[in-house]
Amino acid sequence: MVEINRNLTWQDTKVTRHDRSEMNQHESFCLWFTGLSGSGKSTIATAVERSLHLQGIRTYLLDGDNVRHGLCSDLGFSAEDRKENIRRIAQVAGLMVDGGSVVIVAAISPNQQDRQMAREVFQNNDFVEIFVDCPVDVCMQRDPKGLYEKAVKGEIPEFTGISSPYDVPLDAEIHLDSGKLSIEDSVKAVLAYIQEHTQKVKIQSVV
Ligand code: ADX
Repeated sequence: MVEINRNLTWQDTKVTRHDRSEMNQHESFCLWFTGLSGSGKSTIATAVERSLHLQGIRTYLLDGDNVRHGLCSDLGFSAEDRKENIRRIAQVAGLMVDGGSVVIVAAISPNQQDRQMAREVFQNNDFVEIFVDCPVDVCMQRDPKGLYEKAVKGEIPEFTGISSPYDVPLDAEIHLDSGKLSIEDSVKAVLAYIQEHTQKVKIQSVV
């Protein structure tokens, strides 16, 4: 194992999160979407981001599929690699929230302990977990990327919901029944939650 140099001293900066929030005229926090592949995470997250952006709010969407092209391109889908994937996404999201953005994460994040680890990166109320709840048989019917078909044939090992577990969230702030709700209604539910429970940004439902 490589020896890690721990002779570190935290450097304070002269521009604070509060300064950035005043300049932006809104607070920052993380919306964390979790759910099976094909449940609608990316679609709903994309629409939520667009709506917030149109209202002048600084946003950034970290999508699991996208970060796996760069930041996490060395990682696969073992439990250990997924944990590292979530750790990196959460750390980047934490920095970007400190930087003043509303960060939207869309990652399967199947493991409850890994989601808890992500939550602990943030201060109270800065982490809003959103369970995009869609039964696996509906995800399989949708199969937008053709991955379930391959997974069932055994062509993709450790596929979430088929050959790798998904821990149903028990403490998510928002539960979207995405097997039944329209995309528009899911987006409205997220925006309504932000407005009611966080009062961090003055937002309207622009869907
Ligand atoms: S996570 O489990 O580590 O949170 P993440 O959201 O980053 O997953 O990536 C999931 C995406 O990777 C899926 O949307 C799908 O396109 C692709 N993928 C490829 N192999 C797998 C697999 N074995 N299980 C789940 N998703 C996979």
